[in-house]
Parts: sequence; structure tokens; C-alpha cells
Amino acid sequence: MSKTQGRVEDKVAIVTGGAQGLGEAAVARLCAEGASVIVCDANATAGERTAHRHGASFLPLDVCQEAQWEAIIAQVLASYGKLDVLVNNAGIFSSCPIDEMTLQAFERVIAVNLTGSFLGCKHAVRAMKRNPEGVGGSIINLSSVTGLRGQVGGAAYASSKGGVRLLTKSVAMENARYQIRCNSVHPGIMQTPMFEAILDKVDGAPDALRTHIGDQTPLGRVGSAEDIGDMVLFLASDESRFVTGAEMVVDGGATAGLPY
Ligand SMILES: NC(=O)c1ccc[n+]([C@@H]2O[C@H](COP(=O)([O-])OP(=O)(O)OC[C@H]3O[C@@H](n4cnc5c(N)ncnc54)[C@H](O)[C@@H]3O)[C@@H](O)[C@H]2O)c1
Repeated sequence: MSKTQGRVEDKVAIVTGGAQGLGEAAVARLCAEGASVIVCDANATAGERTAHRHGASFLPLDVCQEAQWEAIIAQVLASYGKLDVLVNNAGIFSSCPIDEMTLQAFERVIAVNLTGSFLGCKHAVRAMKRNPEGVGGSIINLSSVTGLRGQVGGAAYASSKGGVRLLTKSVAMENARYQIRCNSVHPGIMQTPMFEAILDKVDGAPDALRTHIGDQTPLGRVGSAEDIGDMVLFLASDESRFVTGAEMVVDGGATAGLPY
């Protein structure tokens, strides 16, 4: 794959939900390209293991808890002296008809996916404003193609991911003057534990469904976690220095248009 060239050398990066899936792929690429990476996850056992595997550090974090955000940012600033990159990746999936969805279930999805991203942006901006003038930082928010259009069963998930899309643009507008960039990433269907858990719940053969989804995708396959890791690396690096408020769709062409 890509050669290592120190594309994020000397940068300090936090990746939430970094224990597995897309978050782990981002951790792997950022570590390989020279960043000091802090994996933050609610699952401490998996988070510690993943951090160790890639030469990163681990701090436990429930992204819904503001006091925990304050504590981990303070710890990162004390240990590394700065914060350059935040990847707001932690998220949960949900699919439920709106007339069967409980208020509690709806609020939980919003709390993790949208409020968690808001809290991350808020405290990262505060930290990044302390960087020397002109240095700024890069915030990368994981939305979804379901943040660009609706989905059957998506009342909570699509609402949360659509919210992340406009949270991103607002943070970008507000903080461009500090060279703090903020972009959203919109994955299509990617091969991760979250995707496998969805397949397991569908009636029928998961392998056949996986093949079907790949066949329906213009580039002919289900996405890999590494496809997102590479996009996160680009947005974290100075190669994306003129990119802010953008929505980076990584879906093999699935939402580009009609196939006829
Ligand atoms: N996999 C896909 O097809 C896909 C598609 C579009 C968008 N996404 C988004 O990408 C992100 C990562 O997805 P994934 O497939 O790797 O998911 P995953 O379920 O495989 O991993 C999610 C990680 O987030 C952590 N997490 C969950 N709740 C948390 C909380 N409250 N605080 C801290 N950590 C928490 C989990 O412990 C886990 O390590 C999510 O935001 C997801 O919505 C995924």
C-alpha cells in the first residue's frame, strides 16, 4: 500500500472509538506516518490492546461525558504540550421504524453520535486555539452517507449523522480564522465489526448479502476500513491545508448517481 513518508510527523492526534473498525484503521495510518496518537474508547480492554498494537497511547473516554473530555484534553496537553488533530469517530448504529422507536433509544444515538462529536469539537477547538499563531489544527468528524440522505429505519442514525454534517460546517466557518479546519467523512458500507453486527441481524446468508452490496457499488466491492484510514490521514495532514467545511464521501460511488 502507501509508503510511509512522515506525512503527519510531530502531530498529536486523538482518535475516539479507536479500539476497532474505522477508528483503528485511522490509528494505524496516523501512527505509521509519524503522529503521536491517543486512542480514546469506552471499551478499555480493546482500546489498550489496539493502542499497544500500533504504538499509540490509550485513555478511556465515554464521548457523551463532558467531564471526561475535559480530563483527557488536559492530560494530552500536559503530556504532549499540544493537540493538532481530533478524529471524532466513536459512534453507534441503529435501525428502527420511527413508530416503534423509544425516546430513550433515539436520545442514546443522538448522545453518542452527535452530542459526542459536539463535545469533542468544543474541547478540541479550545485546545487548538492555544497552538502558536498560524498552526491551527484539523478536526475530522465521521458522519455517513446516511448523513446525506434518509434511510429506512434511520430516524435516529440519519438524524445524528446529518447533524454531524452541519456541526462540521459550522465549526469550520467559526474557526477558519484560527486555521482550525473541520471536515466530515461520509463512508458508505465498510467492512468493520459494526457492519458485521448489522449483517448478523439480517435474515438469510450474510456472505450473499455482502456480495450483493459489493455488486451494487459502482467500484465493485464493499469498502475497507483502510479506505477511511487513508482519507483521515489526508485530512489530518497538511496536504489538506486548503480543505475545510467539506464533506468527503468515501463510498465507491454508491451515492454519486443512478446506475442507469
Ligand atoms: N462501518 C460502516 O459501514 C460505517 C458507515 C458509515 C459511517 N460509519 C461511522 O464510522 C464510525 C466508526 O464505525 P465502525 O464501523 O468502525 O464502528 P464499530 O462499532 O466497529 O466501532 C466503534 C467504536 O466506537 C466505540 N464507542 C462506541 N460508543 C462509544 C462512546 N460512547 N464513547 C467512546 N467510544 C465509543 C466502540 O467501543 C468501538 O470501539 C461510526 O461513527 C459509524 O457511525 C461506519
